[in-house]
Amino acid sequence: MNHRIISLRYRPQDFDELTGQAHVVLSLKGAIKSQRIGHAFLFSGPRGIGKTTAARIFAKSLNCVQGPTIHPCQKCQSCQEIKLSRSIDVVEIDGASNRGIDEIRNLRESAQYSPLYGKYKIYIIDEVHMLTAEAFNALLKTLEEPPPSVKFVFATTNPTRVPQTILSRCERFAFKRLSVKEICSRLKSIAEKEAIDITDKALHYIALRADGSIRDAESILEQLVSFVEGTITEDHVFKLVGFLSSEFYYNVVRQIIEGNYAEVLTAVNSGIEEGADPLEIYRGVVDYLRAALLVSSNMPQEFMDLSDEEIDHIRSLDIDREKIIRMVEALLKSEDMVRRSINTRIAIELVFCQLLQIDGPAPTPREGTNKGDLKQQLLAVLQAESPKLAALIQKSSLEADEKNVRITVDQEFSRKILVEGGHLLQAVLRKILKRDIELVVEVAENKKKDNNLENAIRALFDGEEVR
Ligand SMILES: Nc1ncnc2c1ncn2[C@@H]1O[C@H](COP(=O)(O)OP(=O)(O)OP(=O)(O)O)[C@@H](O)[C@H]1O
Ligand SMILES: [Mg+2]
Ligand SMILES: [Zn+2]
Repeated sequence: MNHRIISLRYRPQDFDELTGQAHVVLSLKGAIKSQRIGHAFLFSGPRGIGKTTAARIFAKSLNCVQGPTIHPCQKCQSCQEIKLSRSIDVVEIDGASNRGIDEIRNLRESAQYSPLYGKYKIYIIDEVHMLTAEAFNALLKTLEEPPPSVKFVFATTNPTRVPQTILSRCERFAFKRLSVKEICSRLKSIAEKEAIDITDKALHYIALRADGSIRDAESILEQLVSFVEGTITEDHVFKLVGFLSSEFYYNVVRQIIEGNYAEVLTAVNSGIEEGADPLEIYRGVVDYLRAALLVSSNMPQEFMDLSDEEIDHIRSLDIDREKIIRMVEALLKSEDMVRRSINTRIAIELVFCQLLQIDGPAPTPREGTNKGDLKQQLLAVLQAESPKLAALIQKSSLEADEKNVRITVDQEFSRKILVEGGHLLQAVLRKILKRDIELVVEVAENKKKDNNLENAIRALFDGEEVR
């Protein structure tokens, strides 16, 4: 195989080569086509999902001889130089190592000169949240009166640390973690081009471990290629990343359901011996039960990220849904204890043993069985889609009738957040209930203002978009 590492060789060069991020691509293309191109952009989102890559493609689109165009020619001097990070007009600055006022002063100075070849002078500042307060102030001045041919693209994994004054002068694009499916299909096409012999299951587990990041997925693939001879299988993946198979979790959950204390502890022990971190086992069991909940709720497959085989496996466990809900509930309640415990392993063993005592249908939940169910099902989906909305739903009460789902919250602020995320909530609720519903979000009348809570929630959402 070629020496240059996969993630560099397969850096997308065109918007259409980017996996996922369709919403971002669509708006950027729209801006380019309409020639209404703002002067500052902020690309936010977790690591390795295409922010820097998209910034370079955008720069190419603007400065291509045929530009601004949504299909940069890839051949002109500008396109070539940007590809090699050599363009004089496109300056990439790593905010983490150039954090200070001097760097930004230099930038302001050079921004006064017009571009040499291209139409625009483009500054891409990566990890912009690392700039010092002074540097941000200096940057702000430039953003307030930008030289006409200057464009800024800021990228950050942590938009909450970018001052509001800067944020409000940028067009913001929230990049998303990629789904297991998206990552698999990307890896598959790379594997085909590189003639890498790898099973679909192995790809699936790489994608799972990559946790939304294509770069991480590519680098796992790369490492596998360097040490495996012959076909790469999921066992190689487990060996490399110390990943317990879904088989492992299936076994732990089965032993819990069957009430076999000794087997549960033996299984946990063997997992730890294979190199897994106890917390990873804990999380894995929660994830597995969540999957079981989705399967038992007949969720559409696109929400589940599970292979057909895993779904069959889970079905064969035949666990009562009420019971799963109570188990997940118990695990979530103990999470804090487990995290803080000095001996995580004992804490986990204890919690798992407590799960063995959970049986059959629950005592009637406060809100009535169906509503409790609905909330749990909603939470199960939201935890993956938008953990923050999930956190708010967790604190709210839910009531469904034929036409409406009514969510009652404690705080006006929470209400606003849920209304902003209303599209997603409504879509998920419609899928779960299999009927058209309207979403009503209101603040409980008798709730007096609790500033502590409100502040905590504000801190949680400060500066971040709710998806
Ligand atoms: N959406 C994507 N589609 C295809 N490949 C991607 C995508 N995102 C990342 N990659 C791959 O990962 C590599 C790194 O991506 P990139 O540098 O754009 O990530 P990033 O979001 O800027 O991450 P970081 O926050 O860590 O800087 C790319 O060279 C490419 O191989
Ligand atoms: Mg980057
Ligand atoms: Zn070009």
